[in-house]
Amino acid sequence: MTHLHAANIAVRREYGDKARAAEALAIRLKLPLIDVADVGGATLMLEYRDGRLALCDYRTPRAKPLFVDIGARIRRYRSLPAPKRGPLARAIGRRTRSIVDATAGWGQDLGMFVAMGYAVTAVERSPVIAALLADGLARLAVDTELRGPIELPRLVVADAVHFFAGLGQPPDCIYMDPMFPPKRKQSTLAKRRLRVLRQLVGDGADCRQLLASALGTARNRVVVKRPDDAPPVAGQPRETYTGKLVRYDVYQPGRRC
Ligand SMILES: C[S@@+](CC[C@H](N)C(=O)[O-])C[C@H]1O[C@@H](n2cnc3c(N)ncnc32)[C@H](O)[C@@H]1O
Repeated sequence: MTHLHAANIAVRREYGDKARAAEALAIRLKLPLIDVADVGGATLMLEYRDGRLALCDYRTPRAKPLFVDIGARIRRYRSLPAPKRGPLARAIGRRTRSIVDATAGWGQDLGMFVAMGYAVTAVERSPVIAALLADGLARLAVDTELRGPIELPRLVVADAVHFFAGLGQPPDCIYMDPMFPPKRKQSTLAKRRLRVLRQLVGDGADCRQLLASALGTARNRVVVKRPDDAPPVAGQPRETYTGKLVRYDVYQPGRRC
């Protein structure tokens, strides 16, 4: 399955101040631009809702639109930079300053890295998800409350394996969160985010290749997020940190796995 547009997706034609933006988006992503009355075969629609780019699932009309909200993640912390505590921060390591989030997705882990004050590059290969991320980052950039205390991440729209191949300065840490089956205990919203992602980008069957490439690139460590009951992506991690529903497997660069 291609990671480009696996699902049947279109951009909704807008008539207000977002008319140009919607047209440009449809051209850039090579997606049809349609009126909402002509939804037809499109099951997913990119559309502007309250000034935010959102992904709407037209098969379940009552489902809330999905959008990237990095600011909401950051606001969960009482102070910024947020304390580097808990299994994720321990997996990332005390000496880490720079992180490449190789699978940025909905930007939720990215928000935690930004809140904790790391210098982050976010990589996402699905152009649709990357457009949602870019919109979320643009809103973060004009968030007067947050833009002082945080460092804005850089977004790269590419396959991380290709991005690593052209990278000059290696990051201290590479983080990856490949697709995995929804967990029973996850919230409904988390399950929907995963279901829609799977429709768009497939099931992450190439994550071993991504791990191998990350191990040949990172300076200090590669961290892989896994469901707590799933086997490691490959080999034996050097360390493992367990959270509520997930664990973080830490690998040492330069080692084959
Ligand atoms: C499970 S989601 C990540 C969710 C993310 N950690 C979050 O907190 O929202 C996996 C994402 O990684 C992207 N992805 C998978 N393999 C990739 C690769 N080799 N390069 C770039 N992006 C990749 C997929 O397109 C998908 O958006």
